[in-house]
Amino acid sequence: MERMVSGIKPTGRLHLGNYIGAISQFIKYQEEYELFIFIANLHAITVPIEAKELRKNTKDLIALYLACGLDPEKTTLFLQSDVDAHAKLGWVMTCTSYVGELQRMTQYKDKTAKGESGITAGLFTYPPLMAGDIILYDADYVPVGKDQTQHVELTRDLAERFNNRYSDTFKIPKPLTTSVGQKICSLQDPTKKMSKSVTDPKGTIDLLDDPNVARKKIMSAVTDSIGIIQYDPENQPGISNLLTIQSVLTNEPIESIVSRYQGKGYGELKKEIGQTIFDFLTDLQSKYKAIIESGKIDEVLKQGAEKANYIANKKIRKVYKKVGFTL
Ligand code: AMP
Ligand code: TRP
Repeated sequence: MERMVSGIKPTGRLHLGNYIGAISQFIKYQEEYELFIFIANLHAITVPIEAKELRKNTKDLIALYLACGLDPEKTTLFLQSDVDAHAKLGWVMTCTSYVGELQRMTQYKDKTAKGESGITAGLFTYPPLMAGDIILYDADYVPVGKDQTQHVELTRDLAERFNNRYSDTFKIPKPLTTSVGQKICSLQDPTKKMSKSVTDPKGTIDLLDDPNVARKKIMSAVTDSIGIIQYDPENQPGISNLLTIQSVLTNEPIESIVSRYQGKGYGELKKEIGQTIFDFLTDLQSKYKAIIESGKIDEVLKQGAEKANYIANKKIRKVYKKVGFTL
């Protein structure tokens, strides 16, 4: 089985876009790949975050991933900070990187271009840490959104550089762009991606939203005045977005939904989707609560860290020998 590694930053809460674009993909990948997923908490502190919030986000993320169907028997799920080798290899990769190439990383570049103050040195050296996260496990694939492909390219460069300087040590990973997952748009501005931005709370359905509130968000979703139910993202982005949501959550093809709604109004369609969302969140949240209350999280993380440490420590021992740390 080929191996896949991904890190998830525990910043902010998860929304329906994350579920459809990322989580549901992982649930599929765990059947096809040997999957390693870690909570990237070392990355989370590159921007200021309260300890209390970080702790809560971490727990919520794990509970939600498990509630969505991530199976700890198939997937190795762990905290980055529980595997010391990440920080160790991160440093070696930082010393393998050039300042010039890190300055070209868009996240850093954008923030400096905007003249943001308080940019940490960690934000600057975060890409080599991420490179270490990936090559530590000899990953074949890294599932990433578009914004992260540049980091995977850098990972490939750094791994090759290290291999050339010392000797063959790391597998060169490939990015797997998660465009197979559907893009979900804001319910209030369907030309924009649904995101965790706080400026658009009615446009975003949080996975921990009260199901009744979420239903109302669907009912008040922005549509158009064309009045025909059809899938046309160009001219009817709002209706198309709603159709996508309904289709993904119920597995009914969009064409089939469209044909059921010939000659019917938007209100009826919204009612059905509102109910779908209500049922989906009610079910998900009851699983989430059960997981939080069961103490299962500690157990899953302990088991995940053991497995990850075993693999990661073997790799870091090799690296330490090659660079000359081990006498
Ligand atoms: P973010 O929370 O924006 O860092 O995104 C985490 C993951 O969720 C990435 O893999 C994104 O591709 C996915 N994602 C975020 N927002 C959306 C969205 N509106 N539609 C589909 N996927 C999304
Ligand atoms: N940088 C990624 C993000 O912002 C998170 C991440 C950290 C990651 N390490 C990784 C993703 C390793 C994939 C592989 O979303």
